[in-house]
Amino acid sequence: MMQGARQLMKVYVTRRIPQEAMKALTGAGVCKVSVWDSDEPVPRAELLKGVSGAHGLLCLLSDRIDTEVLDAAGPNLKVISTLSVGFDHLAINEIKKRGVRVGYTPDVLTDATAELTVALLLATARRLPEGVQEVKSGGWSTWKPLWLCGYGLSGSTVGIIGLGRIGLAIARRLRPFGVKRLLYSGRAAKPQAPEVEGEYAPLDTLLSESDFIVVSCSLTPDTQGLCNKTFFSKMKSTAVFINTSRGSVVNQEDLYEALSGGQIAAAGLDVTTPEPLPTDHPLLTLKNCVVLPHIGSATYSTRGIMGVLSANNLLAGLNGTPMPSELAL
Ligand code: NDP
Ligand code: DGY
Repeated sequence: MMQGARQLMKVYVTRRIPQEAMKALTGAGVCKVSVWDSDEPVPRAELLKGVSGAHGLLCLLSDRIDTEVLDAAGPNLKVISTLSVGFDHLAINEIKKRGVRVGYTPDVLTDATAELTVALLLATARRLPEGVQEVKSGGWSTWKPLWLCGYGLSGSTVGIIGLGRIGLAIARRLRPFGVKRLLYSGRAAKPQAPEVEGEYAPLDTLLSESDFIVVSCSLTPDTQGLCNKTFFSKMKSTAVFINTSRGSVVNQEDLYEALSGGQIAAAGLDVTTPEPLPTDHPLLTLKNCVVLPHIGSATYSTRGIMGVLSANNLLAGLNGTPMPSELAL
């Protein structure tokens, strides 16, 4: 008994995670788990202390896992499992150099995120938050022919930047709204595109011809700041911009100028820089900008499934067995 306890590997979890995920971890009998038992992010100093000597680290997209954290963990570290599909918060090159394996959560959140993206697109284009506010504030005096008009999907051209798992799921959901053309841009044409009658287009064509532009690519050095002044200047003045990828894909100062100067019609953002967006941020003063608090994958079942997947990835990394979802480094 004593001998077994001594052999347990050390795991550090950077946040309170779904109960079923904790059960999977603690019930496996291979590791001793320490948790930053809070809904708020672990302070950096606590993270550096908590990860010391760990064999496994289960982290979130809000934790920056860089050389400092890897050094603090030390040579025991075998696996990092992130409770997210995005991995831009991980110093991948450094992790790879150290032979540490990485688990992540693709696929299981695709439907929830695509659904939220469509909800945000409709809410932004049809001005739902403004309408709700008018009802509450007494601004609704009567039915008016020209009041709170927005833009509809029927007969429109939609441009998707990054037709990956989530981009494709968004396209599948938008098609039945009567979208006329569906353009997409990216590094190469996608074999799955015919399923949604997607036309591979140069970015400039997508920008000038789309009525709705949806950003669903990953954050990489190539996509960082992609949506800037030049980008917005190529869009139609009636176009709606939606971003559910990562905040840093957008230059927010340029977006503010484009929205306030009438260069584009509206924007819906589920992701911002920083997160949370400060409540006095200029974007929050605009009626034509809808900002959500990064809730793309936030359904009860999706978060539970993500949690268990991240636990199983971690356990596989500790045991040296194939992970359910391992990131190819
Ligand atoms: P995928 O890897 O399947 O899709 C990412 C897509 O981005 C790929 O098709 C990739 O193309 C494309 N891409 C890469 N570089 C560029 C570029 N320069 N221009 C255009 N497209 C590019 O990932 P997922 O669809 O599963 O997730 C995408 C992202 O969504 C995540 O990385 C994450 O940041 C974000 N996300 C946000 C959520 C939220 O809550 N708002 C929830 C879940 C995810 P290629 O294959 O050619 O590299
Ligand atoms: C991710 O998984 O990358 C999202 O941003 C949160 O689910």
